[in-house]
Amino acid sequence: MNINEIRNTFFEFFKSKNHTLVDSAPMVVKNDPTLMFTNAGMNQFKDFFLGYNEAKDKRVTNTQKCLRVSGKHNDLEEVGVDTYHHTMFEMLGNWSFGDYFKEEVIAWAWELLTEVYKIDKDRLYVTIFEGDETDGTDLDLEAKNIWKKYISEDRILACDKKDNFWEMGDTGPCGPCSEIHVDIRNDEDRKNIDGLTLVNNDHPQVIEIWNLVFMQYNRKADSSLEKLPTRHVDTGMGLERLAMVIQGVQSNYDTDLFQFIIKYLEGLADVKYGVDEKTDIALRVIADHIRAIAFSITDGQLPSNNGAGYVIRRILRRAVRYGYQTLNLKEPFLHLLVGKLAEIMGDAFPELKKQEKLIAKVVFEEEQSFFNTLEKGLKRINILIDTAKAEGKNELDAVSVFELHDTFGFPADLTSLIAGENGLRIDQAGFEAELEKQKNRSRQATQIESDDWVILREDDVEEFIGYDFLTADVYITKYRKVKQKKQEFYQVVFNITPFYAEGGGQVGDTGTISSGSEDVRIFDTKRENNLIVHFVKELPKELKAKFKAIVDANRRKSIAVNHTATHILHHALRAELGDHVEQKGSLVNEGGLRFDFSHFSKVTKEELSIIEGKMNAFIRDGIALNERRAVPMEVATELGAMALFGEKYGDLVRVIQFGDSVELCGGIHVQNTIDIRFVKLVSEGSVASGIRRIEAITGDAAIAYYQEKLGEYEAVSELLKNPKNIVKSVEELIAKQQVMQKQYDHLLKGQLVQIKQELKQSVQAEDGYNYISAVLDLDTASIKDICFQLKGEIDQLFCVIGGKANDKASLSIAISDDLAKSKDWHAGNMVKSTAHLIKGGGGGQPFFATAGGQDAGGLKDAIVAVNKLIGK
Ligand code: ALA
Repeated sequence: MNINEIRNTFFEFFKSKNHTLVDSAPMVVKNDPTLMFTNAGMNQFKDFFLGYNEAKDKRVTNTQKCLRVSGKHNDLEEVGVDTYHHTMFEMLGNWSFGDYFKEEVIAWAWELLTEVYKIDKDRLYVTIFEGDETDGTDLDLEAKNIWKKYISEDRILACDKKDNFWEMGDTGPCGPCSEIHVDIRNDEDRKNIDGLTLVNNDHPQVIEIWNLVFMQYNRKADSSLEKLPTRHVDTGMGLERLAMVIQGVQSNYDTDLFQFIIKYLEGLADVKYGVDEKTDIALRVIADHIRAIAFSITDGQLPSNNGAGYVIRRILRRAVRYGYQTLNLKEPFLHLLVGKLAEIMGDAFPELKKQEKLIAKVVFEEEQSFFNTLEKGLKRINILIDTAKAEGKNELDAVSVFELHDTFGFPADLTSLIAGENGLRIDQAGFEAELEKQKNRSRQATQIESDDWVILREDDVEEFIGYDFLTADVYITKYRKVKQKKQEFYQVVFNITPFYAEGGGQVGDTGTISSGSEDVRIFDTKRENNLIVHFVKELPKELKAKFKAIVDANRRKSIAVNHTATHILHHALRAELGDHVEQKGSLVNEGGLRFDFSHFSKVTKEELSIIEGKMNAFIRDGIALNERRAVPMEVATELGAMALFGEKYGDLVRVIQFGDSVELCGGIHVQNTIDIRFVKLVSEGSVASGIRRIEAITGDAAIAYYQEKLGEYEAVSELLKNPKNIVKSVEELIAKQQVMQKQYDHLLKGQLVQIKQELKQSVQAEDGYNYISAVLDLDTASIKDICFQLKGEIDQLFCVIGGKANDKASLSIAISDDLAKSKDWHAGNMVKSTAHLIKGGGGGQPFFATAGGQDAGGLKDAIVAVNKLIGK
């Protein structure tokens, strides 16, 4: 079976057990502050387990794109070095939401592996949970007894919490698990060493393939376990490992999927896989990483400087580095793999084919800029090595090694290699300490610490009523204290709420809740999974009172105007530029809107003006809102709604239609496009390769914008004495100024020659040097010019010149190179120590330096002070 057949067989099997096949959730996670990327199939179902939400289908199956490179599950450094870890991988899973439990899932897992995939029973082992005293959990005898029906007892191993109690993160749903391990060693090895002793021992050929989790608890912030209302099943099987077992090969990278990419790379780099461990590692790293990179980009996460984007950038750089360092690929190469990936994975994940061009372009630009960085890094290393040698050291210090790692993407082992070639070591221990320091810094910067929720009322599932109401009578159902970046505040949840939670690019609502004489300000509203969380600086005194919740109505109105304008912009962009335009991000607030979209060239001025014209016509046409709520995904797609990323299985969606503009959207909109009144596009630029950004303003802000521009126009017109044709007038002014500048430059040149001659005549012969000083009404550039000419014409020169121009002072010192050396004079240090006399600062090299200052009155004193320094 090839990889696609193995995947489909899994789906068919669980469909035959009445499971509904659903899509993978996006790999990039929005709306969950505890997670950046999906790290397990169950992430998207978290709310079903915790009882916050009810599943429509009680039995579900899918393959989930997962990424384990941050947070609790982080495998990055292992990837490629061993043969069985991945950054991105597919997790095949089946779920029971309060339906079947251990008996069924164990029976089906056994049936699928041994009867359908026909994996040899003699090669299988299972583990069960041995219990944990601190948590107060018991040995999972129930699972053991069920397993005994299928497998002999001596193949069942009880393991501790680390291996057999599965948790999604530091908090959240969790439970004991039972894992199935497979031994793919040859017969002789199997005879010599009992496979059971190798289970959970990092043996590359005795590995876990399937994890069956029996979800029963919620891990709370105080690390205690709370029983969930219902018991569920969550399973996960790595498709890549399964393929290895079924295809009878010795590593994931020998399966058809990876070999397809590795073969292509072999051609590019002119190497063979399986010959040299070093090149093998590089081939594996690249074949693995390209998947993580490509899938993140399809999910809307571009490489960037922070957060999830930075994680992707680091993965990309790791791949490029291995190519550069080990495979001798000195030109961008990663982008060439995107097409190959789309070829082999595009049927299962159509988004890959659809966005192939965009992904390749983004990857190419990232690679190119990283290649530049690498080259700069090589130069930097050479300087560091020369300096260390000149100073008689035999080691590169930790801070330098860390700088190379952090700024130039040079791993310590590469630095060590190059240093070694030059007879130097690196301070490895010091480097690791620096690395640890950085980790702590970033942990502190991002850490959000939340206390457990304090529950005040159990009764309600919070309902959002803000599409219809801006005020409501509410109760607080729960609250908690939160600490972020040393700030403390509270989050509160209501039974119902009119406050819109930040989402779909639209900012969260603000407003107040009032009870009696007390008003509490809501300064932000965000979503956390299924909860709408309101941010307050202080809790109200009467926590259990009834509150009048009031959304800031004017702000909300401006936001709605800008949100509808965003849809109209999207629509106009597609009409003018083409269907390749897809939304890649947006920000809608009360001040305006920002819209990022895929497009491969600058949007020209003419195009922008057409787009703006189309938008304003659309607005003037007065098109009414047609809003449909709780529409199943399929129906929305039939309506022609543009599906964006972020929708999850089971979601009922909301469709927002204004004429031909149909979008899936949970945001707030105006009732009629006429409410926008007017839109003005104010900027267009690039945010990343292949992604453009337009910013726009609407309504009052757009009118104010025009008024301001008109004001500026009138002021210019007045300055020009109100000419008939203002543009022509300015053009003439510029032309005139250019002629004058030329004449001025010419005259200045002649004058500088004359000044120089005068200075030359003023030279004083001192003991061992020739001295010149003067104060001139010249700018620093002219003074520098004169100084360098003098240096060329007078030997053993020491020259100090004060300059006055445009109310500013400057002090320049020029010293002949050999004089600076023989007398140990340093022009840079001299201006540094005397610049205070002209109320300024500066520095420079030993043979020339300039300081700028505010006080020309101090120039004479400064020259006297300089004279003192040279003993004159
Ligand atoms: N959630 C389980 C895992 O990721 C199945 O291993």
